[in-house]
Amino acid sequence: MMRREGWVLLTHLLRSRTVVSLVLPSLAACDSLSVAAPDLGRIQPNPALGAAAFAVSCAVCHASGDGFDLAYFSYPDSTIIRRAVAHVDSNTARDIVAYVRTLSVQPVARDNRPFQPRDALADTDLAFALRLFGTDAWPADLTSEGLRAIDLRQVPTALRFPLWSQEQGNMDWMPDDPLSGSLLDYGDEPARKYLDAYLGHRSSENLRAAVSAVRRAERDSLNAAAPCVRPPLARFQPRACFEVRRWTATLIAQHLLRFGTSETVDTALYNVWWDVGDAARIGRARDGDFENGIANWATWMYLGWSFGASNETSVWLGDALTLLGLRRHAVFTILRSQVARPRGSPIPYNDLVFATQFAPGGWAFPVVKFGYAHLLARVKDGDVPPVERRQQATEAISSVFNAAAPKLTPPQQATLAALRDEIAAYLQ
Ligand code: HEC
Repeated sequence: MMRREGWVLLTHLLRSRTVVSLVLPSLAACDSLSVAAPDLGRIQPNPALGAAAFAVSCAVCHASGDGFDLAYFSYPDSTIIRRAVAHVDSNTARDIVAYVRTLSVQPVARDNRPFQPRDALADTDLAFALRLFGTDAWPADLTSEGLRAIDLRQVPTALRFPLWSQEQGNMDWMPDDPLSGSLLDYGDEPARKYLDAYLGHRSSENLRAAVSAVRRAERDSLNAAAPCVRPPLARFQPRACFEVRRWTATLIAQHLLRFGTSETVDTALYNVWWDVGDAARIGRARDGDFENGIANWATWMYLGWSFGASNETSVWLGDALTLLGLRRHAVFTILRSQVARPRGSPIPYNDLVFATQFAPGGWAFPVVKFGYAHLLARVKDGDVPPVERRQQATEAISSVFNAAAPKLTPPQQATLAALRDEIAAYLQ
């Protein structure tokens, strides 16, 4: 049933037909030898057959095309066989094991969480602040440069990034559904063509082309089968969209795990990870329910954000973190985005509105002071929003003040009011 035309053409290496015809004679020889006591289980596992079988029967879900993930995450033979026999016969399962063992991959433990800042998983929101700042407060002496210099790939977080494979639930990378033909074959420039090109030659350019082809197919409103079309909101299919995006997410992840993250991980790539979370967010918002909705929303967005803080819409991640009781994380992610926004952007003003909204008790004063100081430095440097956005920016800085004021002492209010007015003067 799972058999599909081998869309994965390991063009240079194997075409399943060629492999089968090359290998058949030896299989036949084995068969004839074992005529007396037929025992297919005794046939020597054949890695070449395993490679072809993987491409045909596994790669529709395991996007690497070549079994990279099975070797990388150290799944034992028994696990590979147990999972494989859901899709192929037991001899083929053994061929696949034999093939996976030929891959030269530097493995990690099965419970490795890809891209998780490793050694230091803070368990709670408070522990996060203590690890990062040494105190449960927004540090008064932290500068914009200091915050921008923090390497997000190293910051310990209470969020647990997805495991590669988890048989219960949907908190793993592996998509539960194969990439469907209606996405693969859609349009004049079908995704299949670019995926085949990528699997034939795993270059960064081919990866980007394949990813953007799948992204076009998933969201093109002319594609009746596209699950991620929006608007209209009614057309969006949260679960199917989540699955396609997980599929694409694993394709990207395996490229990076294979070749290293030293190459630039650009917006087009980490946005896919962010967008897995966005599918969960939208599903939850529209339908009131999505399996592990908040956890998926927060974790995938955080993962994407940790590769590109300047581009993402901080309020969405902040919202999810706050729902999980992780307000300190929320404030950190938002202000870290604020200082990374490009010149001329009106977004840093919105960022401060949300940072103030999510700030835990006692954090309001230093958070607003930090955010105001950052905005003031921008405007003093000639970095002001476009004319048509200045009114909004002015409103944003006063709403920040009004939201914080009830939590502040009179001298704190005076300090912040002075900063607010100084910024406002540049926004006239
Ligand atoms: C329909 C999609 C699909 C196909 C086809 C598929 N898999 Fe998987 N596989 C998954 C998913 C999803 C998981 C993650 C665990 C889960 O959700 O059950 C997984 C997990 C695994 C694991 C790890 C299991 C664990 O204990 O964590 C192995 C090994 C594996 N698959 C092998 C294979 C092999 C070999 C084939 C082909 C013969 C194959 N799979 C075909 C979807 C698929």
